[in-house]
Amino acid sequence: LSTSAAAIRPASWNSWNHFHCKINEEIIREIADAMVDNGLAKLGYEYINIDDCWAAYDRDSKGNLAANASTFPSGIPALADYVHGKGLKLGIYGDAGSRTCSKLMPGSLGYEDKDAKTFASWGVDYLKYDNCNNQGMSPQPRGVDDPGTWAGGVGNSWRTTGDIKDTWASMTAIADKNNKWASYAGPGGWNDPDMLEVGNGGMTTEEYRSHFSIWALVKLPKVKNNIIQQTVHTFKQAPLLIGCDIRSMSKETKEILSNQNVIAVNQDELGVQGHKVQQDGDQEVWAGPLSGGRIAMVLWNRGSTEASITASWSSIGLNASTVADAHDLWTDEVISSVQGELKETVDSHACKMYVVTPK
Ligand code: DGJ
Repeated sequence: LSTSAAAIRPASWNSWNHFHCKINEEIIREIADAMVDNGLAKLGYEYINIDDCWAAYDRDSKGNLAANASTFPSGIPALADYVHGKGLKLGIYGDAGSRTCSKLMPGSLGYEDKDAKTFASWGVDYLKYDNCNNQGMSPQPRGVDDPGTWAGGVGNSWRTTGDIKDTWASMTAIADKNNKWASYAGPGGWNDPDMLEVGNGGMTTEEYRSHFSIWALVKLPKVKNNIIQQTVHTFKQAPLLIGCDIRSMSKETKEILSNQNVIAVNQDELGVQGHKVQQDGDQEVWAGPLSGGRIAMVLWNRGSTEASITASWSSIGLNASTVADAHDLWTDEVISSVQGELKETVDSHACKMYVVTPK
């Protein structure tokens, strides 16, 4: 990857959060169709990623991984052709251990070179590499478990937490955990707070809006710390990994995933992760710099009642005397000429997200 290619964060879809092991080639083809038909592809969602459970239980007679004959009868190369024909890219899943986490397909331990060549020969564009059943092997030779110190050399992002669940409690906990982990790498090496649950039904629309806003904001972290899971996704990174069934999205889900203002924050060329900059009980402000001296800012009310949140310019890195326009990314309205702070009422479990542009 060139630095500039790696600095871009293409967004994706992954099968796991919605379908788990119940996947087949028809679903993958229909997801690719839906990505184009519903306009998400045009907004930058580019990779269709198959997670665990796509392969036959055993390797073939030559020791190669083979697609599951009943669920992927046409094989992965045909699927890659189909997805490429839509102008999209295909991602696949493997595991550094003897079996994948589901145990339903073989892992790549001892077959790393062979499997990498297989994926490449199939026309696969992107690999998510899991780390179950690793027989006690460290994910990298010198036994350093923190992927932030080494994974940038072999992958473009790494998971910073355990698996997300489709609940407010899980999503907020993951946001906080990811906020603490470091990225030791530059462009091309990003933290991954796990795939989006937006649209899977376990949270309210406002909670999903908060989920999407924070995931879009977090890119490169500031604080060095340990990373607890060694799952390495070898691809051009994407904190915005859609995890719902985009063939049948509600209007609200589609509106959230399609918000171009918010996607633009995620894709901003500066590539600096926003983080929590202010906390007063359940009322939080998250912010991070964008290109052109602008700042992305989220006022997040994690409490159970409506609350007023005041984001002070000093928290987000501006002088108190700075006059700025605040573009509300969800209502698309601009609050002009704000000085020193922005005070807003935010509904329970909701957020307001802005791009602040100093005048
Ligand atoms: C664990 C990973 O964290 C999940 O995202 C998913 O890939 C499952 N393994 C699949 O078994």
